[in-house]
Amino acid sequence: MTILAIESTCDETGAAVGWTSSAAMAALADRGIEILSDVKASSAEIHAKYGGVIPEIAAREQVAAVIPVVAEALESAKLTEKEIEAVAVSEGPGLIGSLLIGVETAKAVAYAWRKPLIRVNHLAAHVFANWIVDDETKVVPELPAVALIVSGGHTDIMLMRSLTDWEWIGGTRDDAAGEAFDKAARAMDFPYPGGPLIAKAAEIDEAVPDFLKLPRPMIAEPGLEMSFSGLKTALVQKMAEQKEKLIADHKFVHLLAKEFNQAVADVLVKKTIVAVESHRPKSLILAGGVAANKMLREGLAIKAKEAKVNFFVPELRYCTDNAAMIAACALMRPEYIDPLRLRPDPGLEVR
Ligand code: KG4
Ligand code: ZN
Repeated sequence: MTILAIESTCDETGAAVGWTSSAAMAALADRGIEILSDVKASSAEIHAKYGGVIPEIAAREQVAAVIPVVAEALESAKLTEKEIEAVAVSEGPGLIGSLLIGVETAKAVAYAWRKPLIRVNHLAAHVFANWIVDDETKVVPELPAVALIVSGGHTDIMLMRSLTDWEWIGGTRDDAAGEAFDKAARAMDFPYPGGPLIAKAAEIDEAVPDFLKLPRPMIAEPGLEMSFSGLKTALVQKMAEQKEKLIADHKFVHLLAKEFNQAVADVLVKKTIVAVESHRPKSLILAGGVAANKMLREGLAIKAKEAKVNFFVPELRYCTDNAAMIAACALMRPEYIDPLRLRPDPGLEVR
């Protein structure tokens, strides 16, 4: 099946064409899916001026980008509407104005081309990015799996018994991991989007001195609950306390970024491994924008090896928002809906 997928949950407009053989679909797509084209436009540069996403601006940029991006996705896949067999779109969670543009576009396209429409949960799609097979050596996760989803708005640990039977088993009780990175970056005066900039600053090859150490909230408590809002407060307090040193030598700013990144990664890795130990899955999956974080990817890979579980994380370009993962989710787990009935759902939970 060949599918056109649209993603418009936040400040990125994406369109992709994905494909999987019907044999693979019959075998629960255990060979994964191929991406024929993957196109993205982003309004992040505009938001950088304001230090965060302005929903109204994001929505207006979605309007301008969506048709050109869809057209380019078809063109670079060298396909026309005739070869497209279904249309898929992210229905949520996300910003309502941004979501509306992608959803209404997908509905109109499906209706006009007389193709079936598939609704996609954006968070589940992050997980399905792990089923994108770009070269023949790539293997896809076996189920059951434990999945850690870390994005700008969500931090969830899921138990995936099958492609459709998912259970939420843990996550944050306050800020999401990505939100923690973005807020910390703001406190440290890094421009938006802050997460990748903290990660970059954290690449300093020197040990963090004791006077810059931060707590690892809830790390020793039983259960799979996490909390990141206190960590941001601890960072702000540390910055006030060590102000002179941070101003005197910029190296200390990098070391504090490293300590913050390590604290978030330590908590995420610890809780995820506790989940692996109690559920003994065949695979451990990392997904979402924060899955691009090197310390987290590497830290979880090491602990997964020790726990003897196969570890999967998408290639960097499929970690942050993209339409290829929407195509993957739609092909792996198609949920058809009448185009006239689909409505965006900003508060959708992962399922
Ligand atoms: O999944 P995503 O692209 O969008 C949402 O669905 O939210 O995630 C975006 C989040 C942002 O908070 C961003 O700062 C964070 O992912 N992020 C990172 C890195 N790259 C993106 N956080 C830490 N390290 C990175 N390398
Ligand atoms: Zn996302």
